[in-house]
Amino acid sequence: MWRFTLTLAALVSIAGFLGGCDKSKQSDGPEKIKIGFIVKQAEEPWFQNEWKFADRAAEKYGFEVIKIAAPDGEKVLTAIDNLGAQGAKGFIICTPDVRLGPAIVARAKANDLKLFSVDDRFEGSDGKPMDVHHMGISARKIGNMVGKSIADEMGKRGWKASETAAMGIGVVELDTSRERLEGATESLVAAGFPKNQIYIGPIRGLAEVSTAIDAANILLTQHTDAKNWLVFGVNDESVLGGIRALEGRGIDAKHTIGVGIGGSTGKVDWEKENPTGFFAAVLISPKRHGYETAEYMYKWIAEGIEPPKTTFTDGVLIKRDTYKQVMKEQELE
Ligand code: GLA
Repeated sequence: MWRFTLTLAALVSIAGFLGGCDKSKQSDGPEKIKIGFIVKQAEEPWFQNEWKFADRAAEKYGFEVIKIAAPDGEKVLTAIDNLGAQGAKGFIICTPDVRLGPAIVARAKANDLKLFSVDDRFEGSDGKPMDVHHMGISARKIGNMVGKSIADEMGKRGWKASETAAMGIGVVELDTSRERLEGATESLVAAGFPKNQIYIGPIRGLAEVSTAIDAANILLTQHTDAKNWLVFGVNDESVLGGIRALEGRGIDAKHTIGVGIGGSTGKVDWEKENPTGFFAAVLISPKRHGYETAEYMYKWIAEGIEPPKTTFTDGVLIKRDTYKQVMKEQELE
């Protein structure tokens, strides 16, 4: 009996010692800080990548990312309440509708959550950008890159402006989308392309390939006479939608120059054996938008360091022959 008790005591103390050394077992340590990351289109590679890089920051600093897909307003508000109930301290969000801004701010406050918007900037009831910490892309500048790349390629192919039309597919209510389309338009016009041959196709709802195909088809029934088409848009998805709609009307790669924004969705066309109308894309950085926003939020919560009010990120032009190398460098494969 005596020996049994001694052995038991030894076992208990060894177990206790081992338990104490086990860093992954956090039961005695402080609970990890929880940060929400809500996105409007979880199936889009851009947002998958943002999540992936937010997780990288979480691994580095030892916090937890709660990832939530919220494609409409109701889901957004429920998600914020859930984050509050789970004891999260803040969240990053790309909202499905920028006009939800005031409601999101109020709900974050009610749940005592810090708030950071990414990609799509909240719009107040006055239609102006809201005073919320934000990271987006340099939309007009990136739009300019798109327009210039299209104009250069059009010049190389020797297309006549009189036989060519341009379509810009985007979400008109969304500032970052409108600025991207305006930027592309500006550069096309600066290169001598007639403004009245540039048609804007508004997407209803979220910018996906399917909604973009619908927008492009409406536009194409109204403008039937162009031999060649230039395609730009809010993202890769919208440009691919334009290209698919053109293909449906027998207008193929030889008569299409499409330049996307994003890179990860559009590269699928470059993996196909035969080129499509998807000529190039401006690769933007989900690493910065995922990792840095999560890092900002963590430091804000844990160390009281307030993030910069606004950050706007750049892009780099990629094509069928360069994308693999550039994307590898940016840890996007
Ligand atoms: C918007 C678009 C996305 C992506 C991001 C980048 O949210 O819908 O496809 O381009 O901007 O900021």
